[in-house]
Amino acid sequence: MSTSRLRKLASKVVLGLFLSANMPVLSQDKIQLSIDTATPGAKIDRNIFGQFAEHLGYGVYEGIWVGPDSKIPNTRGIRNDVVAALKALKVPNVRWPGGCFADEYHWRKGIGTRAVTLNPNWGGVIEPNTFGTHEFMDFVDQIGSQAYLSINVGSGTPQEAAEWLEYLTTPLPTTLQKERAANGHPAPYKIPMLGIGNESWDCGGNMTPEYYLRQLTIYSRFVRNFNPAQEGNQQMMKIAVGPGGGEARWTEWTDTIMKAWEKRQWSWDMQGLSLHNYTVINWANKFASVGFGEKEYAQILKETLKMEDLITTHSAIMDKYDPQKKIALVVDEWGSWYAPSPGSNPGFLVQQNSIRDAVLAALNLNIFARHADRVRGANIAQMINVLQAMIMTDKEKMVLTPTYHVFKMYVPFQDSTFIPVTFNAGTYTNGDVTLPRVDVIAAKDASGKLWLALTNVDPHNIVEIEANIPGSRANTASGETLTAAKVDSVNTFDAPNTVTPKPITAKLQNGKLTIKLDSKSVTVVSL
Ligand code: AHR
Repeated sequence: MSTSRLRKLASKVVLGLFLSANMPVLSQDKIQLSIDTATPGAKIDRNIFGQFAEHLGYGVYEGIWVGPDSKIPNTRGIRNDVVAALKALKVPNVRWPGGCFADEYHWRKGIGTRAVTLNPNWGGVIEPNTFGTHEFMDFVDQIGSQAYLSINVGSGTPQEAAEWLEYLTTPLPTTLQKERAANGHPAPYKIPMLGIGNESWDCGGNMTPEYYLRQLTIYSRFVRNFNPAQEGNQQMMKIAVGPGGGEARWTEWTDTIMKAWEKRQWSWDMQGLSLHNYTVINWANKFASVGFGEKEYAQILKETLKMEDLITTHSAIMDKYDPQKKIALVVDEWGSWYAPSPGSNPGFLVQQNSIRDAVLAALNLNIFARHADRVRGANIAQMINVLQAMIMTDKEKMVLTPTYHVFKMYVPFQDSTFIPVTFNAGTYTNGDVTLPRVDVIAAKDASGKLWLALTNVDPHNIVEIEANIPGSRANTASGETLTAAKVDSVNTFDAPNTVTPKPITAKLQNGKLTIKLDSKSVTVVSL
């Protein structure tokens, strides 16, 4: 090729890149929404905004716990910056101590005199047990949250688990209550959520559905809560291990547990069934969390939307045995799982978090909200320094991720009432991937205020939305919007505000809201 042809080609490529990356093009068509405030749906349980803190990598040690003697400002060993950031998220519950670690956790090693043990799962590290039961409960209390404990079914015994719950919850002066008091907490703790094992079909002991069912009935019978766990005297919610992905074998798992529950005798019960689903395209060769292009942006978002089918499939099985929807589906591990950040310990599951993850988080939260009658709990994996984290720390430094900002913007949806929205989402296409261009949910909070969460998946084009809100007398809507320059824009310790929410206002006229959504953005407004 001649030099002049090469130059021409190069300038075309540069112009093409510039146009696609930097110049938002206003879409031709407006997207029309209709918001049906007259037929409200189910309550969007605040527990779908739950977090997960496993003893894994820097998730607990360094991320939460620095010890009372640390130079990093802390309260009883728990870092103050992280507590302040999490308080703003109004975290409804924190799942702990795992994950796979839960089925190797022996609670006695984490109270009183601590035993130094091993955590063989994730990188094979020493477990100092300095962050144990009391430290976890103190942490949950400091951030204004609630405990979701996972008990050890894989390598523990029903007796060990039953004694942990007695230690935590009895108000009566038993030997275990006295031990708890001697360790600094005379009053019983509240444990509103209890997971009976974790991934018992895999790292939790490779059990068949039938074998797990036998464990479930035994643990459910003997592991008791002695302190009403929530306001209104509600008892603790026991959550059985549920399916772990999209393959056909998981329907058998759900069917086995739910069928047994329907025919159960008085002596056992459960109130929830868990579901784990990560957004991964190839487990053997995972996508990078940063330094990727539009193709990987589109592929990951396509993959994450499989959550919809998964929930629909398992909800349908649950409906067969539980048409009254007494059992909650609890998606207690979800989020993106990428290749480990270069230079990190691969077992520590360290990854960056970009605007792609913010969009991914919003799409999943919207799916949970649309299934609010069945999905009444979810825990993103994981809260700090691990997988799709809210927060990343490096010694005294802390940075909030784009996913953090989405969770903060969605706070008003906690315990709100779902309001149906109908719209034609349009499409966004990249190569052989076609996705709905926009996604929207609406809800009313306790004061009757209407909230909208709007996601524009399209990484190039602004989308204009016209929402019909019958009966609305408001003339403005306001809130926040989160976008970024590139599909892989991230926040770093040196540039912590690259992806950060900005205020947005939009006009309403005669019950019609017109709002422009930036490309690759998440927006939450109220009116
Ligand atoms: O979140 C990381 C791991 O993923 C958890 O330990 C396990 O439950 C799942 O496989």
